[in-house]
Parts: sequence; C-alpha cells; structure tokens
Amino acid sequence: MRRKLIAGNWKMNGSQSVNAALLSDIRSGAGQATCDIAVCVPAPYFAQCQSLLGGSSIAWGGQDLSIHEAGAFTGEVAASMLADFGCAFVIVGHSERRTYHGESNDLVAKKTVSALRSGLTPIVCVGELLEQRESGKTDEVVGAQLDAVLAAISAEELAKIVVAYEPVWAIGTGKTATPQMAQNVHAMLRGKLQAKNPKAAGEVKILYGGSMKPDNAGELLAMADIDGGLIGGASLKAADFLAIIRAA
Ligand code: PGA
Repeated sequence: MRRKLIAGNWKMNGSQSVNAALLSDIRSGAGQATCDIAVCVPAPYFAQCQSLLGGSSIAWGGQDLSIHEAGAFTGEVAASMLADFGCAFVIVGHSERRTYHGESNDLVAKKTVSALRSGLTPIVCVGELLEQRESGKTDEVVGAQLDAVLAAISAEELAKIVVAYEPVWAIGTGKTATPQMAQNVHAMLRGKLQAKNPKAAGEVKILYGGSMKPDNAGELLAMADIDGGLIGGASLKAADFLAIIRAA
C-alpha cells in the first residue's frame, strides 16, 4: 500500500513570526502521524524551515524553480539552491504558475527534469479549467499535461515523482471534486504511469488538491488512487492541517 503524503502549499503567505508559530504547532501535533508530511513555503523561508523542522519527520519544499542551473537569470531560484536549504520537494506546474506566468506543458516538463537532477521530488500539478470539464475535455487536458512530463523523464525517474491532480475550479473556491470525480481522473493518470513503467506506477503517489479540508479529507483519501493531498488554505491553520493529517 502506498503511504499517504499530506503536503501544504502556503502559496505567497507567511512571515517569520507567523511561520514560527505554525511550524511549531505542526511539529508538535504531527508526532504520531502515520503519513508523510511536507510544507511547501515561499523561498525566503527555506532557512526557517531548516532550523525549525530539521531533525523532525516533516519535510519542506519550494513552490517553483528555474530550469537553469545558475547564471544571468535575475529573480530565479535554481533547483540546487532549494536542495542546499534541505528542500525535499518542489511544486511544479501549479495552475497559478500556468495561468499567471504562462507556464506551458513543455516548461513544466523541463522544470520537472531540473528538480530530479538536483535530487528534489517534484510534485507535478495537473488540472482542468471549469469550461474544459463542462465541455468533456478533462481527460484530454489533464492527460496531455502529464504526457508532456512523462515524455521528458526516464522510466526509472518515474518512481521519483509525485503527481497532484488539482481541478482549477476547485482551488481556493470551496468547491471540491466529489471523491468519485477525483478517483476517475486519478485512475486515468495511473494508467498513463503504468504505460510508462508498469512496475513503478503502483508506487507513485497521486495527490488530490482543491479545497481539501478536515470535513472532506476522509472521504477523498479513502479512494483507491488518492494517495494524499496538496493543501492550500487549510495548510495555513495548524488545527486544520493536523486534522487532515489525522484523516490520512
Ligand atoms: P486550496 O489550494 O486547498 O486552497 O484549494 C490547493 C492548491 O492550490 O494547491
């Protein structure tokens, strides 16, 4: 059985004082957890995670990375820099990056490769817009997003990625995909992983994201191919995040 992963996506939120309280509450509350836990924070706070979470079972990560290794790329952050601060994970291709920064499937694939080369676990996000779901294009859109990544990595590297299905219409809106709606997409994604590497596909975690909260986490996480959650809003409140961890 796949061990579940509950990953927080703080997005552009936090301050040193707010984070200190949140991280210490999560650290003390997660003591008995039987799932994997991570928080993906804004880059300026990697060092704070390193000092406050170091030695615990809680991992930390970034929310984006550059495809370049170093050099004249003002404002960008390299995969090696995340690794230098102890990041284990990095979110790649979040819908907010795709929408506000024009990230294409091709760029997301390149970022996935950059993450893997530095030993980071990329959390590759895929998801459809509301109009795409309503016009019956969900599998086509989400499938193409994953296909671009699968084409860029080797069969061995497949074992080192995490996939997150995040229907764009469910992110931060309070609307959640029903467990069955999510499961259907997860099963389709699992099929693509199987075609690439039948052995490793069973071990790859596919997270659900989009308004996962304490009151709906249990039923989502009970589905066969939902291996955890990528949690936005609810990861900013220790009590909610811990309740989701307990549900896992
Ligand atoms: P949400 O965000 O939980 O606030 O909907 C999820 C995400 O964007 O990763």
